[in-house]
Amino acid sequence: MLDSPSNTITVTDNRTGRTIQVPIIDGTVKAMDFRQLRENDDDFGLMVYDPAFTNTASCRSAITYIDGDAGILEHRGYPIEQLAAKSTFLETAYLIIYGELPNKAQLAQWTHDITYHTFVHEGTRKFMEGFHHDAHPMGMLISTVAALSTFYPEAQNVDDAHSREIQTHRLIAKMPTLAAFAYRSGRGLPIVYPDNDLSYSGNFLSMLWKMSESKYTPNPVLERAMDVLFILHADHEQNCSANAMRAVGSSRPDPYSATAAATAALYGPLHGGANEQVLRMLGEIGSPDRVLEFVKKFKNGDNRLMGFGHRVYKNFDPRGTIIKGIADEILDMTEPHPLLDVAKELERIALEDDYFIKRKLYPNVDFYSGIIYQALGFPVEMFPVLFAIPRTAGWIAQWREMITDPEQKIARPRQVYTGERQLDYVPLEAR
Ligand code: ACO
Repeated sequence: MLDSPSNTITVTDNRTGRTIQVPIIDGTVKAMDFRQLRENDDDFGLMVYDPAFTNTASCRSAITYIDGDAGILEHRGYPIEQLAAKSTFLETAYLIIYGELPNKAQLAQWTHDITYHTFVHEGTRKFMEGFHHDAHPMGMLISTVAALSTFYPEAQNVDDAHSREIQTHRLIAKMPTLAAFAYRSGRGLPIVYPDNDLSYSGNFLSMLWKMSESKYTPNPVLERAMDVLFILHADHEQNCSANAMRAVGSSRPDPYSATAAATAALYGPLHGGANEQVLRMLGEIGSPDRVLEFVKKFKNGDNRLMGFGHRVYKNFDPRGTIIKGIADEILDMTEPHPLLDVAKELERIALEDDYFIKRKLYPNVDFYSGIIYQALGFPVEMFPVLFAIPRTAGWIAQWREMITDPEQKIARPRQVYTGERQLDYVPLEAR
């Protein structure tokens, strides 16, 4: 909203002397307003240059609020600390997608709808058997979630609200099933079909770890810890993978294809792959007395201290604080983790170091999550997969918001062209 007529900026183009008034709306100016500024009639008009979108709002969104300086994360207005303490993952997913906490009947219906869709077509299982025995489970997940679109061709009707609803249920329900299948196949274990008597997280643990027992009973502490980890990873506004979901979704393919793109974006070591890198890094350091020597390496700009720093949190990552609490709880129950002391020493030294203080680099959600996952028995390759399961709720919420937003169009950035122009073709023999 344009709050008052004085809510504008005055821009003078010193090339031409032309002055324009640009409205400030919701703390932003429209990049398109600058196109009025031209050097001459043939000029395309002024563009804004923002590689990696560090200062560009790409959408209006009512899903997740982050104040990076204050370390605040809220979903639909509810602080992450309260959701992590009091909610369940499925309830939080409902909140993120529909905008309100469900009442009892809505929650029961939602839980039923998700549970009803946990099974995947047998063709999917066969498809997964085709992967190499040591295939990375994230590669398997990316491919199989894309393959789901071939089982549900009606998902292409992205303008049909009913179809969007069914695909929403299917995606949230089937991601844990695909993830567990990928995990079991990597270990050479027979797959375990969903147990719909169990909770969302309990069923996931069952599909991962059930052996010969006729019914798997999840340990309630681990089940809750997994659920809280899912809550913490459910959404994080316009990050790399959410942006991929929206950008790919903006050309209006089915949501399985867009989710595959978002999952691929999450796979990278600077995003969801960071906790895998944290573990590798801690393993390389090996013991607390070697931390100091290693920290020096992270200050020359060549190496990054994985699990530290965040594009938006420049104070602390509130999820990192909650996750540290879970780490202590889980590690009390499991074998002592050999790298926990290294992580704590690394955190202590980095937080006292001028380089990290000056750049406002703090532990992010990934710093301790890898240690928890490893203590729970997951191989490092599963870490980004464990992130992708709950983040699917956020991706879908972002996708639904984008699809129904009349201001959105196909995502298509501009460029500053820096190459040659109008060269004459040189025949091969003359080169
Ligand atoms: N270790 C050492 N130095 C760092 C780190 C780090 N982890 N992160 C940033 N810096 C330094 C940069 O070298 C730069 O220093 P300079 O100003 O002297 O050049 C300065 O801090 C600012 O860094 P940017 O790259 O501009 O910060 P940006 O916001 O683009 O990057 C990112 C954020 C990608 C998360 C970065 O901090 C990083 O690579 N961290 C490690 C990977 C990681 O943990 N990713 C998980 C993020 S959370 C998530 O995705 C769920």
